[in-house]
Amino acid sequence: MVQFKLPKNSQIRVGKTWPKPEGAKNVRKFQIYRWDPDTGENPRVDSYFLDMDKCGPMVLDALIKIKNEIDPTLTFRRSCREGICGSCAMNIDGINTLACIYGLDEIKGGTVKINPLPHMPVVKDLIPDLTHFYAQHASIMPFLQTKTNVPEKEWRQSIEDRRKLDGLYECVMCASCSTSCPSYWWNSDRYLGPAALLHAYRWIIDSRDEATAERLDALEDPFKLYRCHTIMNCTKTCPKGLNPAKAIAEIKRLMVSRQV
Ligand code: SF4
Ligand code: FES
Repeated sequence: MVQFKLPKNSQIRVGKTWPKPEGAKNVRKFQIYRWDPDTGENPRVDSYFLDMDKCGPMVLDALIKIKNEIDPTLTFRRSCREGICGSCAMNIDGINTLACIYGLDEIKGGTVKINPLPHMPVVKDLIPDLTHFYAQHASIMPFLQTKTNVPEKEWRQSIEDRRKLDGLYECVMCASCSTSCPSYWWNSDRYLGPAALLHAYRWIIDSRDEATAERLDALEDPFKLYRCHTIMNCTKTCPKGLNPAKAIAEIKRLMVSRQV
């Protein structure tokens, strides 16, 4: 049997266990991934205990409570706290999702396990490095491209054409989908991943855009698009209820239909 040895600095240690809140009757345990590049130490998992009678209903409420009242060094991204900015994406109880709209009551079992999004470099604690993910998004030219003269007022669109953007424009670029995809884990250097491809499709089917052929040409590549093997993790995990797998399938269909 093949045996793999992990590099020493990749092994996750058992971390610190913080004291339970005194006098609390409704206590819940949180196990949270911690890593600080400045210490040179291995990643660890710290354990915290919260009085749930004094905590808000969402996972982000618990993280903020831990940071404010127990351990100010705990580091995570958040901004809007209502599923709009996409910053608080992390792996909660094995699911990539947004901490601000994921209810603590949705997590079965007592302990809440929180890790950064998988298969991404970590900046610190729960913060992944999304530099490459954003560069891939930029590579699909996520803006209107036109060749005809700019109209005096706005670019007009029929109600039917506008409807084609539903289920696409709502993406908040949280990266939950791409980081749940095994094809993206193994080939993220060349496969664009579900989030970037959903955005590519959003511009391909925009009736006002006049670069459709160029957009499809740019995706005609064995890796950028065709590394999608319809595993469907992206659609299963999207916290906004979007369907990146369908968008990718639509791009593949357009590739075939323009060849016949
Ligand atoms: S498609 Fe969904 S999971 Fe993927 S980046 Fe957009 S909002 Fe996040
Ligand atoms: S804080 Fe903005 S999506 Fe969660």
